[in-house]
Amino acid sequence: MSLAKINALIGRGEKVAMLTCYDATFAKLSEAAGVDMLLVGDSLGMVLQGAENTLNVSMQDMEYHTKSVKAGTKDCGIMADMPAGSYEHNKETALLNAKKLISSGADIVKIEGGGEMVNTAQYLIEHGIPVCAHLGFTPQSVNQLGGYRIQGKTEETAHQILQDATAMDQVGVHFVLLEMVPAILAKTITESINTPTIGIGAGADCDGQVLVIQDLLGIYTGPASKKPEEFKSPRFAKNFLAESSLRNSSIQSSVQAYVKAVKDKAFPGAEHCY
Ligand code: KIV
Repeated sequence: MSLAKINALIGRGEKVAMLTCYDATFAKLSEAAGVDMLLVGDSLGMVLQGAENTLNVSMQDMEYHTKSVKAGTKDCGIMADMPAGSYEHNKETALLNAKKLISSGADIVKIEGGGEMVNTAQYLIEHGIPVCAHLGFTPQSVNQLGGYRIQGKTEETAHQILQDATAMDQVGVHFVLLEMVPAILAKTITESINTPTIGIGAGADCDGQVLVIQDLLGIYTGPASKKPEEFKSPRFAKNFLAESSLRNSSIQSSVQAYVKAVKDKAFPGAEHCY
């Protein structure tokens, strides 16, 4: 039902406002503020656990937080990340773990990468699991990608991402999430495939946007091991709490402002894009 509602709003030409969420309190607040879909992201490794990256997040972590988010929502769609190590090795393990996240309350699971992950996505879909394919900058490959870097800047890498998105589209994924790619590439992909795209640092032409709640509130200052002054927010992040503080500095109004900005196509602006 939740995914059908999202499809219907995309069909009407409305943008999807997605936000990360890790617990029942924020789930309830975000749903009331009009968020269309909650992402239980493995970004929780960084923003909740204080780690440098998402690589040590476990299936147990994801099940626990997915259940917590589910407890706080009535009918908001829930997407849950499959954590590193839970799906890449073989598709049977991927299916077993995807089922655990669905049993915990997720409507759809997200996996990172194109290439061989296309077969895994197809296998999950054939077994009734809706899948989102995360392409572009894929945080679980941060070490292979040489850090937090924009992807698809050269003709060759842009073509590869477009090919991966097309292959994922053809096996029937429900969404393609594009992270940190040039806006022009995200626009081309969005126009070339039937699957709706969700962007983060991927320009305004995606069918929807996602943001990490801590970035929306401007409260994330880097891993626990680093001093806050050493941290620089990514270009795509926008602090809606700072902006709303002149009017009404509540978390609820900041989330509402984010939803409105996405729906009005006011966010992301050129300053948030590559
Ligand atoms: O884990 C997460 O929060 C994500 C977003 C950055 C898209 O995957």
